[in-house]
Amino acid sequence: MNNATSYSTWVEIDLEAIQNNVQWFQNFSGVDVMAVVKANAYGHGMIPVARAALQAGASWCGVARIEEAIELRAAGLNSPILVMGYTPPDRMEKAVAQGISMAVWHPGQIDLAASAAKAIGSSARLHLKVDTGMSRLGIQPEMVHRLAQKLAETPGVTFEGLFTHFARADEADPAPTDAQELHFQNVIEQLEKNGLRPSVVHAANSAASLTRPSAHFDLMRVGIAMYGLHPSDECSLPGAVRAALTWKAVLSQVKVLPPGRGVSYGHIYTTRSQEQIATVPVGYADGFRRTLGNQVLVAGKRVPVVGRVSMDQIMIQLDEVPGARAGDEVVLIGQQGEARMTAEDVAKIWGTINYEVTCAISARVPRVYLHETAWVTHPDRQL
Ligand SMILES: Cc1ncc(COP(=O)(O)O)c(C=O)c1O
Repeated sequence: MNNATSYSTWVEIDLEAIQNNVQWFQNFSGVDVMAVVKANAYGHGMIPVARAALQAGASWCGVARIEEAIELRAAGLNSPILVMGYTPPDRMEKAVAQGISMAVWHPGQIDLAASAAKAIGSSARLHLKVDTGMSRLGIQPEMVHRLAQKLAETPGVTFEGLFTHFARADEADPAPTDAQELHFQNVIEQLEKNGLRPSVVHAANSAASLTRPSAHFDLMRVGIAMYGLHPSDECSLPGAVRAALTWKAVLSQVKVLPPGRGVSYGHIYTTRSQEQIATVPVGYADGFRRTLGNQVLVAGKRVPVVGRVSMDQIMIQLDEVPGARAGDEVVLIGQQGEARMTAEDVAKIWGTINYEVTCAISARVPRVYLHETAWVTHPDRQL
C-alpha cells in the first residue's frame, strides 16, 4: 500500500529501531529488559512494539493498567507482564488467572490478591512497590519488612518482585537519585538478611539504565529510550539508539494568496505579501497541539505553520518551497532529506516533554509498521 495516497496523515514505526534499542540496552548492561509499553507504547502501538521488543530479547512487558495487560495476553503475548500501577480489586482474579503480576503497597491489597487467587486455585504474583522518594505509589522503606513478611507468609501469594521508581534520574545532579538508591539498597539488604529478597528486584527507568549501573539490579524498566527518545536534555541517548517514530502527512492543497489575506480561525495570521499557503490534513484532534510557533518539514526544509491549528487541518507558509504540489510529503516528526524535526524539537515548541508529544498522537492517526516480522506464540513458555 502506498501510504502517501492511502492516508492523509499517518505515523510510521520502525520496529527494527525498537529491536535495535532493546538489544543495545541488553548488550550494554547484560541485565534483563522490561519493555515499558504502557499508554499504547508511548503512542507507538502497544502490541506491535511489545512483540518486537520480546523478539529482540526483552523478558518482561511493563504496563500501567490491568486493561493493558489483558490486551497483551489477548494478542498471544505470554511473557511476564507487570501492572506497575493500581489494580482494582474486582480485576485481581483476572490478573491471577492470566499470570499477570501486580504491584502492591498496602496489606489490604495482599489479602485481596490472596482471596482472588484462592477463588481460582492459583497464586498471585506480586511486586512490592517502595517509595524511596518519588512520593507517588509505594510504601515507606521502614514498612517494607512487615509487608515482605506478610507476602512471604500469605497462602496464594508469590512474593515475586520488589521495586522503586526514581524521580530525578534524568537530571545531571546525581544526589537526589543517590539518596533514593541508598534507601532502596538498605531495604534490599534488610530483606536479604531475613531471607526475604524476592527474585526480581528492579528500579531503573531509561535514565537510570543509562547512567547508573549500580541500580540495574535484576531488571531494567526501559520506556522512553526503547523508542529512541532522549530521557531529557541532561540525559541523552548514545548515537546507536535510534528514534522509531516518524509522523507524516501530505499537502492537501497549495495556493497563492494575495497580501492582506487572513488565514485560519480568527485570522491571527495575515499574509504580508503574495504568499504560497498550503493546507495539511492534520490538526489538534490528531494530537498536533493548538499552539503558535509550530513548524513542519516539506521538501527537506523547515517551514512555519501559520494561523491557528484547527481540529483536522493546519496551514503552512511555503514561500521557501516554490515547487510544492498537493500530494507532497510533510513530516511533522522525523527526518526528511537533511532536515530533522525531532519529538524533542516539537516538545520545546509545545513547552512539554517528548513523552507527551508521542503519547498525544491520537488513535485516529493510522500506525504503519516497518520491518514487522511474524509473531509466533510460544505455548510452552511458562506464564
Ligand atoms: C514505574 C515506571 N517504571 C518505568 C517507567 C519508564 O520510564 P522511562 O520511560 O523514563 O524509561 C515508567 C514510566 O513513566 C514508570 O512509571
